[in-house]
Amino acid sequence: MPRSASKALVEWYRANKRDLPWRGIDDPYAILVSEVMLQQTQVATVLPFFGRFLERFPTADALATAPESDCFAAWAGLGYYRRARNLRLAAGVIAESGWPDDLRSLPGVGDYTAAALGSIAFGRQEACADGNVRRVMSRLAGETLSLADAQRASAAMMRGWVAGEWNQAVMELGALVCTPAPKCNVCPLRRTCRAYAGGTQAEVPEPVKATAVQLDHVCACIVKGGRVALRVALPGEWWQGMLVFPHAQVRENDCKFGAAGLLGLRDPRKLGTVRHTVANHRVTLSAYMGQGSAPGVRWHAIDELQSLPLPAPQKRVAKMLEQAA
Ligand code: ADE
Ligand code: SF4
Repeated sequence: MPRSASKALVEWYRANKRDLPWRGIDDPYAILVSEVMLQQTQVATVLPFFGRFLERFPTADALATAPESDCFAAWAGLGYYRRARNLRLAAGVIAESGWPDDLRSLPGVGDYTAAALGSIAFGRQEACADGNVRRVMSRLAGETLSLADAQRASAAMMRGWVAGEWNQAVMELGALVCTPAPKCNVCPLRRTCRAYAGGTQAEVPEPVKATAVQLDHVCACIVKGGRVALRVALPGEWWQGMLVFPHAQVRENDCKFGAAGLLGLRDPRKLGTVRHTVANHRVTLSAYMGQGSAPGVRWHAIDELQSLPLPAPQKRVAKMLEQAA
């Protein structure tokens, strides 16, 4: 890749970058917060949360010493609450013993976040690669690259530039121009792009086929006088530490009236079905309402459920419950 290509991208970035609240700050903790929020989440979704979260938890120490439930409450709406738990744990490490040399030793910090944070907050000369970077680098090369090869390709183009700025330039191109349906006519790289030359933008990169596992789950809305039973998800369960409706997996040999059998509901009435994806699973969650009891539950007012930090599928069940109860 000629050096003029890197130059064209950096110049494009300087002229076109969005004015995002985590750009132009140098507090590594605030940059960590931004990078964790941006994992699996679009910039537009993160925007209203970022400033509010930092106002509530301005330092690593403030976050580490706050109750986890406060952290979840400030995160409510961003989803993937495991990130909030890990961010708070990471803040604990930072408050206690300072920033580690290996950023990946922090809870919730993987290769991508370590390289983004290392370059943006600590000036380390590392290239980061996520799905956006992989798309841009694959198209430039004219073939589907692995994440590792995309990172190497970006690192090679980055030489001579400041990594923090370079990484954000590639991300920004992937977010604004080299999108799944790319806007090549305004792209600063089109003269050196192989996919553009060959007209193969639509085929490169090939989509990664996720082999999702299908699961059937049931959950119980156990109601009593305007209230419903929720329990805290246990370690090893999805959404550990968050409030969930008592639920169970329906296995092949369970009867189809799973809720009554598996969750001990009396007079079960089906509320509806919610489909969602979690980790590598496609889950069909059938919700039932009825009377009964379950271990470890607490009672919550049905009309206050929407303000609790419930996982997204549970929120949808809560909506059905509000309408039915
Ligand atoms: N996605 C991940 N990190 C980002 C950043 N620093 N700026 C914009 N989008 C991002
Ligand atoms: Fe992406 Fe098109 Fe630019 Fe190539 S020319 S990098 S495909 S936007």
